[in-house]
Amino acid sequence: MDLFRKKTVGQMVAESTPLKRTMRTVDLTLLGIGAIVGTGIFVLTGKGALTAGPALSVSFLLAAVCCGFAGLCYAEFASMAPVSGSAYSYAYLAFGELIAFIIGWDLILEYALQAATVSAGWAGYFNKFLETFGLHLPVELTAAYGTTPGVTTYFNLPGFVIVLLITWVLSIGINQTKRTNDIMVIIKLAIIVLFIVCTVWFVNPANWKPFSPYGLYTFQPGSTQPYGIVPAASIVFFSFIGFDAVSSSAEETIEPNKTLPRGILLSLAISTVLYIAMTLIMTGIVPYPDFANFVDAPVAGVILATGMNWLAVIVNLGALVGMTTVMLVQLYGQSRICYAMSRDGLFPKFFGEVHPKYRTPFKGTWFFGLLTAFAGGFININVLFELVNIGTLTAFIIVSAGVLWMRHTQPDAHRGFRAPGVPVTPVLAIVFCLVLIAGLNWETWVRFAVWFALGLAVYFLYARKRSKLGQAAAEG
Ligand code: ALA
Repeated sequence: MDLFRKKTVGQMVAESTPLKRTMRTVDLTLLGIGAIVGTGIFVLTGKGALTAGPALSVSFLLAAVCCGFAGLCYAEFASMAPVSGSAYSYAYLAFGELIAFIIGWDLILEYALQAATVSAGWAGYFNKFLETFGLHLPVELTAAYGTTPGVTTYFNLPGFVIVLLITWVLSIGINQTKRTNDIMVIIKLAIIVLFIVCTVWFVNPANWKPFSPYGLYTFQPGSTQPYGIVPAASIVFFSFIGFDAVSSSAEETIEPNKTLPRGILLSLAISTVLYIAMTLIMTGIVPYPDFANFVDAPVAGVILATGMNWLAVIVNLGALVGMTTVMLVQLYGQSRICYAMSRDGLFPKFFGEVHPKYRTPFKGTWFFGLLTAFAGGFININVLFELVNIGTLTAFIIVSAGVLWMRHTQPDAHRGFRAPGVPVTPVLAIVFCLVLIAGLNWETWVRFAVWFALGLAVYFLYARKRSKLGQAAAEG
C-alpha cells in the first residue's frame, strides 16, 4: 500500500459534507482574534518583559513576522482547498497520507493541551475575579493537584466547568458558536482598547532605556535560560497561535477562496498592532525588572501601578473573556480536524458523525471536550506546555513546505489567493519556525518524539488499513 497516497483538490471538495455555510470575512476575523488574543498577552508578557526588556515589542514583531509568512502559506492552501482539517488536509494534498496523519495527530494533541492549559489560566483569573467581590472557592478546588507550590489543591473546578460550557455551545451548532464568539471577541477588543487609552498617559519614556538590555540572544551568568529578543520571541510565539484555526472552518464559510485568506491575515494584523501597542505601554509604565513582582498577571500589575484599580477589575474580566474565546476556537478546530480524519477513515467513524439537527460533529465534540475538561481539571498541565509550541511550529513547517511543493508539482492548480514572494516566503517561514523550535528545551523534543512515535503506531496498526483512500485504491 502506498504510504504517500494523495488526495486531489477536486476529491476533497467533493467529499466535503453539508455543514452549514454561514461564516463571512468579519466572522472569520473575529474567530481568528478570538483564538489569538488570550493567555499570551495577559500572562506571558511578564516573562517576556523579563527576558527581553522593553524590546519585548520587537520580540512580538519577530514572532508576528514568522506567523505572517506561515499565515500567507495557510491562506494559499485554504484558498486552494477550502475544506475542514487545516494543516491535516493540506498535508494530504501535498505530501500524502502518512504525513497528513502525523500532522493531524500532532494537531489533536496541540489543541487539547492548549485548551487545557488555558483552562488553568482561566481558573486563576476567575479566582481573582471572585476575590474582588469577597468570594472564595475552597482552595482545594481552585487548581489541579501540584500546580501551586505550598498549597494543597486537587481539582480545577472553574476550568472544568468552563470547558464543559464551551463544549455544549460548540456541540449545538455553528450559529450559536459564531454569535457567542463574536460578542466575546468584541468585548475583549473593547477592553484592550480601553486599557490602551487609559494607560498610555502614564508612559515614562525613561523606562524604555535601555531599550534592549540583553540584545538579540545572550546568557546571564549562572543561568541556563537564554535572554534577549529571540528567546522572548520563542516565548511569546504562543500569543499568535490560533490564526491557523480559521482555516479549519473552510466548509462553513461563504466564498472560502476569498474569505479565508482575508480572515487569516486580518486577524493576525489586528492582533499584532494591539500586542505591540500594549507591550510598549506596559514596559513604558513599569521598569522591566519590576515585572518579576507580578509575572503571572502582568497586565493587572501594570494597571495597579497606575493606581486605576477600577480598570484592573474590568481588564480582569477582559482576560477571562479572552481566554474563553481562545478555548472556544481551539476546541472548535480540534473537533473539525477529528471530523476530517474520521471522514477519511483514519479515525473511528464516531468522530465524523454529523448530528441530524445541529449539523455539528456532536459526539466528537463532546468526546474531546470531556477529555480536555478532565485533563485541565486534574493534571498540572504546565509541564507539558511547550509541546503546544513545538506542535504548532511543526504544522507551520509542513504547511509552508507544502506550498513550495504544490507550486512545483501543480503550478496550474486554481488558487483563489497566491502567497506573494514564493519561494522566499515559505522558506523564510520554515527558517523562522526552526529558529523558534531551537529555542525550546530538550524535554519538549523528547515528549514530542514520543507522541510522534505513538502516532506512527496508530497509523500502522489502525488507520492505514481503514483509510478510505486506500480502500478505494484497492477496489479500483
Ligand atoms: N494565542 C493564544 C493565547 O495567547 C493561544 O492564548
